[in-house]
Amino acid sequence: MAFLSGKTSWLAFNLGILVGFFAISLLLHSVIHSFRVRAPLAIRSWKEMEDMSVLQKIPHTHQPGSSKVSDDLSHKVRILCWIMTGPKNLDTKTIHVKHSWARHCNVVLFMSSTTNNSFPTIGLDTNEGRDQLYWKTIRAFQYVHKNYFDQADWFFKADDDTYVVVENLRWMLSNYTSDQPVYFGKRFKPFAKQGYMSGGAGYVLSKEALNRFVKGFRTGVCQHTTSVEDLALGQCMEKMGVIAEDSRDTEKRETFHPFTPESHLTGVFDKSFWYWAYCFYPIVEGPQCCSDLAISFHYVDSELMHTLEYFVYHLRAYGYDYRYQPAVPEVAERLPVHYKGKPATEVITMTTNETGSL
Ligand SMILES: *[C@@H]1O[C@H](CO)[C@@H](O)[C@H](O)[C@H]1NC(C)=O
Ligand SMILES: *[C@@H]1O[C@H](CO)[C@@H](O)[C@H](O)[C@H]1NC(C)=O
Ligand SMILES: *[C@@H]1O[C@H](CO)[C@@H](O)[C@H](O)[C@H]1NC(C)=O
Repeated sequence: MAFLSGKTSWLAFNLGILVGFFAISLLLHSVIHSFRVRAPLAIRSWKEMEDMSVLQKIPHTHQPGSSKVSDDLSHKVRILCWIMTGPKNLDTKTIHVKHSWARHCNVVLFMSSTTNNSFPTIGLDTNEGRDQLYWKTIRAFQYVHKNYFDQADWFFKADDDTYVVVENLRWMLSNYTSDQPVYFGKRFKPFAKQGYMSGGAGYVLSKEALNRFVKGFRTGVCQHTTSVEDLALGQCMEKMGVIAEDSRDTEKRETFHPFTPESHLTGVFDKSFWYWAYCFYPIVEGPQCCSDLAISFHYVDSELMHTLEYFVYHLRAYGYDYRYQPAVPEVAERLPVHYKGKPATEVITMTTNETGSL
């Protein structure tokens, strides 16, 4: 390698390295780029905060009058959805809840530590942080009880990264009446005799369950015992005689899911994973994990939220009859019908006298 000594060859050597480096990085760049398709305009703009109004243009997926069965249920099984969020999440997460699944609820409320009139959010006058979660939940349910008790039959709590198929929630609930002391969600088994509902997948309280929850705090039967919100709520429910019900479909497939669709459908949970010890019902991995009428998934980011909205309300296989088509439960025939602004006269016969006395 004598020709590599001398100044010129030293330069040539360095130049060679430089050229080689550029060639490789160019190659890598084009390879990586070919895997990364540029995000569609709507997503790019909300990420860059240029044009939030793009979201407003995403069409509402539900065409009034075109879905008789779900329309009918929406007047019989009125669901108030409240979403637990915080000031920092509004523009990154919560906005996507607002413009996707939350549109299907009868009433939607965004609960935060502080009021924001433009979003809008309701300020619960708490601090932010995980240790505040149960206070937020207590105050949110008290607020809902005081101000919205007559506007819904069921009261659903979700996080700002939960995705919900509200029509499927209505179908599941239409097998019950809201004067029953019941609540539903992804059922976990430890720390309470009847178990409790996992927070991230969301849970739903009947009108009577909400009544008892608020009464529990008014009478001191329930207290802020721990900041582990879902567990604490479950323990209060148990004390107040509210039954943790089974939300699985008629084929015993789960409807509330504490992880992403991908984790449940294609994931394998490690045997040492806490999940095995927590689930009330047997865990099913793979396609049978999830009901065809699934209600919720958790850890859903903004892209997946709009993707799921498309999968649920638009994408279908032409000419295909869905194999799982359970009937509307018999109970639903007898549920009172409510129309907005003109409540039916048979509205709600309360079993207790607690209404509005918060
Ligand atoms: C209120 O919400 C909007 C989003 O709708 C956000 O841009 C704004 O910063 C929020 N204001 C405060 C004081 O957090
Ligand atoms: C309705 O609820 C009863 C329990 O009250 C249950 O046995 C039945 O399977 C449920 N039906 C549906 C369609 O969920
Ligand atoms: C409700 O309260 C009224 C008095 O305020 C009482 O007359 C009535 O019996 C109560 N109803 C029930 C179901 O407790």
